[in-house]
Parts: sequence; C-alpha cells; structure tokens
Amino acid sequence: MSTVNIAIDGPAGAGKSTIAKMVSAEMGYIYVDTGAMYRAVALYITENNIDDASIENELKNADISLKFVDGSQRVLLGGRDVSELIRTPEISMAASRTSALPAVRAYLFELQKKIARENNVIMDGRDIGTVVLPNADVKIFLTAAAEERASRRYKELAEKPGHPAYEEILKDIIQRDYQDMNRETAPLKQAEDAVLVDTTELTLEQSADAIIKVIKEKI
Ligand code: DC
Repeated sequence: MSTVNIAIDGPAGAGKSTIAKMVSAEMGYIYVDTGAMYRAVALYITENNIDDASIENELKNADISLKFVDGSQRVLLGGRDVSELIRTPEISMAASRTSALPAVRAYLFELQKKIARENNVIMDGRDIGTVVLPNADVKIFLTAAAEERASRRYKELAEKPGHPAYEEILKDIIQRDYQDMNRETAPLKQAEDAVLVDTTELTLEQSADAIIKVIKEKI
C-alpha cells in the first residue's frame, strides 16, 4: 500500500511548523520537521568541531533519528534528545550554512525518503516538493513578507529576557532567506506544481484552513 505524502516548503518563519502540526493533527498524519534534522547535523558538527572537508566521513557516526511521542516529533543525536538544544539563533545560522553542503543533504535525503515511504506524512522544509518528494500527492509553498515573519518572531520572543531587537531578527531572516535560496544544491524555491499560500494577512487558523482545503481538494 502506498503512503500519502504532503510537502510544505517555504522560508524561515512563515509558520510552516505550527501550521503543519495543526494540519497533521486534523488529518491523522505524522508531521516531519526536516529543518530539525538539519539543525541536529549543525549541532553535531559544532559540538565535535568538524571541518567541512571531513563532514562526509564523520556523518556516518552522527546517528540522527526521529521519534514520535503522542504525534509530536523529537530529534535524537546519538540517542540523546536534542529537540530543545537545536533551537538557538547560533544553531539556526549554523544549520543554514551547513545545509548547503551536498554531503549533509545526501545523508538526510535518505532518512527523509525512508520516513515518507513508511508513513503518511506532512513533511516541511525547503526542498521537499522539489527534491525529496517530487511525486508528493500535495505540494504547498507557504510564505509571508519578511517584515511580517520578523514581527511574529519578535512577538514570540518579546516576553523572554535579553530578547533580540526586531531589526536584528529581520536581518537574520533576510540573511537566511538569501542563503537558503541561493545555494547550489537544492535551493529553496517553489515547485512548479505547488500551490502558493501567502500568510502575510492570514491568522494561523485561516492559514491552516486554507491548506486543509487544498489537501482535501487533491486527495
Ligand atoms: O526550518 P528551519 O528554520 O528549522 O531550518 C533550519 C535550516 O535548515 C534552514 O536555514 C535551511 C535548512 N533546511 C534545508 O536546507 N532544507 C530543508 N528541507 C529544511 C531545512
């Protein structure tokens, strides 16, 4: 029996993970956050001081895996749950940089394909509809204006002590967009057959509803 695969791609901060979680709960599918896998690789490289030239060899020992607890994804690095550790601005930037390396992409590509072969998934990332699951049943490209993405992130962080300024968040978002869209291997771009959903003017609920509507029309 073949599995149902839904691809959601888009830039950092467009709301992919929050919205994909809502949609997967509604559909009863597993939600796979591929960005977390790139972040786990970045953490591995950072913790072990691995240089770019040795990555291909060293990745064989990385042992990155996912586990799902009550439908929610946890990322394991050598069996250690690093789901929270990978959410720092340093690891965001490191993941954006190391995800451009073909050896890193090849390693995670295999892992992602296997999960999608074995499960009904909503998989989010940058190259899911274009490279990882080119035959996905539904492809969505989720985006929003950079200023809106920065202001959402700012509101999320505003309560925490020592939070970054809005301008700094916006600068990081613009830099990550540029790196993700302009790398040679599997850059961020909309697949030709993906449906574009722009959430600049939408609430989370409206965005999730728009996506569920697209999915129900296609499946
Ligand atoms: O979605 P995120 O911000 O957690 O992703 C972290 C970085 O990983 C992002 O800057 C680009 C990279 N990434 C990627 O290249 N391909 C994916 N499918 C997912 C993430």
